[in-house]
Amino acid sequence: MLELKTTGGSQIEMQDILPMVDMRQVLFSIFILMLVIAALLLSGCHQDDDSSENSEPADDDDVADDDTSDDDTVADDDTIADDDTFPDDDDDDTADDDSCLQPGADCTLGETAADAGIFVGAAVPSDPEDPRLSLVSAHFNSLTAENAMKWGELSYHLGDYDYTTADALLAFAEDNGLRVRGHALVWGKYPGHGYPADLETLIGQSPDPYAFVQTAIADHVATVVGRYAGRIESWDVVNEPLSSVGTQFDPNPFYLAMGADYIAAAFMAAREADPDARLFLNEYFLVYDTPKTDALLDLLEDLLAQGVPIDGVGIQGHLFVSEPLPERLHRFLTAIEALGLDIELTELDVAKNVLWDDMLNGQTLFEAQADAYDLLAAACFDVASCTGLTVWGIDDSRTWLDELFPFNLFAPNNPLLFDRDLAPKPAYFAIRERIAEAFSR
Ligand code: XIL
Repeated sequence: MLELKTTGGSQIEMQDILPMVDMRQVLFSIFILMLVIAALLLSGCHQDDDSSENSEPADDDDVADDDTSDDDTVADDDTIADDDTFPDDDDDDTADDDSCLQPGADCTLGETAADAGIFVGAAVPSDPEDPRLSLVSAHFNSLTAENAMKWGELSYHLGDYDYTTADALLAFAEDNGLRVRGHALVWGKYPGHGYPADLETLIGQSPDPYAFVQTAIADHVATVVGRYAGRIESWDVVNEPLSSVGTQFDPNPFYLAMGADYIAAAFMAAREADPDARLFLNEYFLVYDTPKTDALLDLLEDLLAQGVPIDGVGIQGHLFVSEPLPERLHRFLTAIEALGLDIELTELDVAKNVLWDDMLNGQTLFEAQADAYDLLAAACFDVASCTGLTVWGIDDSRTWLDELFPFNLFAPNNPLLFDRDLAPKPAYFAIRERIAEAFSR
């Protein structure tokens, strides 16, 4: 069986990858041969504005149930934790003379973000000695461990923890004044990576799966969030609770044992372990006004109405150059903000449209990416509660897309902000200028 190797050394099998591959990606791979032949005969394929996001009718598993929210929602006012790693505390939003927000300022992306009071980060590999980490400390003001803080990476066997890599990455961030987003406490994908390899077997052996999972989540979250309390500014507490497409909950081991209660259980344990950390629900979307986005908003209302301590929503953003769809993203972000929640774009990478170079409309890939990243940054920072964005990798020489089917068929995907020579790409400057523009108004 085809296997992917994670950076932490555990194996990811094809069958685990497939459920997260969205419908359109599957269609791409199914039709690739047909389209390659067609591409030889035809020219001028045109971009289809929307994706094939499924619009399955709701059923009993649907997120949007009859729970209604009331006025007692627990929207936490804490927008951004004011810890030592928080950038510039300037009350005044206007640019000082020497500010990186001034036109023509010669600042890094991270310095510009700091002057704007927001975070711009990169996901880093599980190697604290990787020389490319120096790019992160030089150019960003936030860091996410791409893999090293996931449950199954910290704890391949339930209850046995090895913090070596996570501790080293956190120390690196602290030494360099980088804010840290913790990713991800409870993620129901990839046994041995997203969660412990033996978890499902142990659940199966338990006479009371609900209680077993409830205890496992409570222990894990208390252990890890407690260990790093005060040092990790925000956590992705629950990652990808919804199915890749449609409106249903992802039928992962946590959901199968506890139903949607596992989400509240994780957030409550995290709040108890570190009352000051901002707690995020992180989710994946292709486009932003689909049944899935409605399902997320329903879920958030429901959690808030129950008093679940959730502070923000992470929106992943693994996209193609044609996809940012800024109006839709703006509407979605505004709807999340209206619930009193913070927002971060947590996993940006922008790959080329896999088959049609002419979708670049005469631009080079790097130019089209710059426009796409610019639209994403503009949509984010147009909404006051959007506190940051993170790119899912450092430079184009290593991206998860080049390892993941079907994107690996199209490698190199080159989706990041630095090229293979470790030079900043046009997208880097586009985000920097967008931040300066948005925060000097
Ligand atoms: C990916 C990593 O980038 C890969 O290195 C790893 O093999 C699998 O996980 N959504 C998420 C991230 O929330 O944790 C995933 O990261 C990408 C999709």
